[in-house]
Amino acid sequence: MASNCNLKYFQLWLLVLVSTGMGTFSSSESAAPIQIHGEIGGNVTFPCSVDNQRTVRLFYFQRGSTFVNGYHAFKDMPHDTKPWENTEVNRSENMVHMYRLNTSHSGDYQCHIQYSDTKNTVTIDIRLSVTANYSKPTVITSCEDGGLSCLVTCASHGGYPQTKMKFDVNVNRNSSSRMWRVLNNSEVPDPANKMFNSSSTAQFNCSNGELKFLSCSVGEIISDTFSVCNHVHNTVTPYSPYVIVAVVVCLMVGVLIVMGVWLRHKYKKRQTGAVEGRVNTCTEEVTFLNELTRKETS
Ligand SMILES: *[C@@H]1O[C@H](CO)[C@@H](O)[C@H](O)[C@H]1NC(C)=O
Ligand SMILES: *[C@@H]1O[C@H](CO)[C@@H](O)[C@H](O)[C@H]1NC(C)=O
Ligand SMILES: *[C@@H]1O[C@H](CO)[C@@H](O)[C@H](O)[C@H]1NC(C)=O
Ligand SMILES: *[C@@H]1O[C@H](CO)[C@@H](O)[C@H](O)[C@H]1NC(C)=O
Ligand SMILES: *[C@@H]1O[C@H](CO)[C@@H](O)[C@H](O)[C@H]1NC(C)=O
Ligand SMILES: *[C@@H]1O[C@H](CO)[C@@H](O)[C@H](O)[C@H]1NC(C)=O
Ligand SMILES: *[C@@H]1O[C@H](CO)[C@@H](O)[C@H](O)[C@H]1NC(C)=O
Ligand SMILES: *[C@@H]1O[C@H](CO)[C@@H](O)[C@H](O)[C@H]1NC(C)=O
Repeated sequence: MASNCNLKYFQLWLLVLVSTGMGTFSSSESAAPIQIHGEIGGNVTFPCSVDNQRTVRLFYFQRGSTFVNGYHAFKDMPHDTKPWENTEVNRSENMVHMYRLNTSHSGDYQCHIQYSDTKNTVTIDIRLSVTANYSKPTVITSCEDGGLSCLVTCASHGGYPQTKMKFDVNVNRNSSSRMWRVLNNSEVPDPANKMFNSSSTAQFNCSNGELKFLSCSVGEIISDTFSVCNHVHNTVTPYSPYVIVAVVVCLMVGVLIVMGVWLRHKYKKRQTGAVEGRVNTCTEEVTFLNELTRKETS
């Protein structure tokens, strides 16, 4: 009977806190919510700032009308007030710990505290923002029209909240609209964890040559600097004067070597040819003489 009575008492309390928020007995300590920040997969502690000189009778941590965690100092909690399993209230320090944060934990929470010496309820508003760092943007460049224009795509993944990919291009504002333009942006949420992949594609006009020290950024995360239209520059003046001089010198040296080898070969050939000729005429003379002598003897 007694426990039944207790249950009703608590349900009444929950009802008052849930339905009226501040209710007739409660007073809000501060108008603006306390801002706290956590990272996805991380932990956070809600600073409910309880007056430790006084005895707490009731400590309810709620998200709007949803009970998150809490306790009543002198009585058991009703059975239908199930605390979130990723939370914990440490009664000695009156702090709420939240673990394994994900995107759906972002939002406004309230600590409702009632001390035993008064019926007034103190409410503290706390706003939790959960974020995830985007990866450093990767840059992919592809040039078309024989290098007259280039497409650059910057992409980053696994971030929260939704953030646009931006190009950071330091060119003269007056000519920038002719130099480049953003073609598209996309922020695609992962259906499972709600984290975003953010990307953007821009087109660059290469008719003014190379553009240097460009970068992309998604929030605070910045890509490596990159340049576009650099190979276009290369095809316009493919070889520097030094390269041309070096090539000509190499060619001349090569020609000289080939000529030297050829001349040497020819000289040698002429020498050996002369010797062989002499020998041949000798043998011819000898055979001729032999034939003559053979004819004479027969
Ligand atoms: C979060 O808290 C749990 C439990 O106390 C701990 O094991 C874990 O290392 C904490 N994680 C971070 C990122 O602090
Ligand atoms: C509660 O907090 C106190 C002080 O930080 C600590 O000593 C104690 O271990 C904590 N209790 C639990 C159950 O986490
Ligand atoms: C996210 O970025 C912040 C600011 O640069 C940094 O302090 C924090 O350690 C990063 N978190 C992770 C999980 O890398
Ligand atoms: C840009 O154009 C404005 C007028 O349209 C001119 O006053 C300004 O000097 C120009 N700036 C540059 C850097 O050329
Ligand atoms: C590229 O820039 C040049 C000179 O700045 C301009 O004449 C040309 O129209 C631009 N091309 C495009 C496609 O914007
Ligand atoms: C953005 O534009 C480029 C070039 O037209 C295209 O290849 C790419 O698929 C587009 N991306 C999105 C997300 O629409
Ligand atoms: C986001 O990017 C990652 C890494 O590139 C990829 O594995 C994942 O499939 C992408 N998610 C969505 C929803 O596009
Ligand atoms: C966030 O975690 C809670 C449990 O703490 C779970 O019920 C919920 O589905 C999760 N949401 C996302 C988007 O992962």
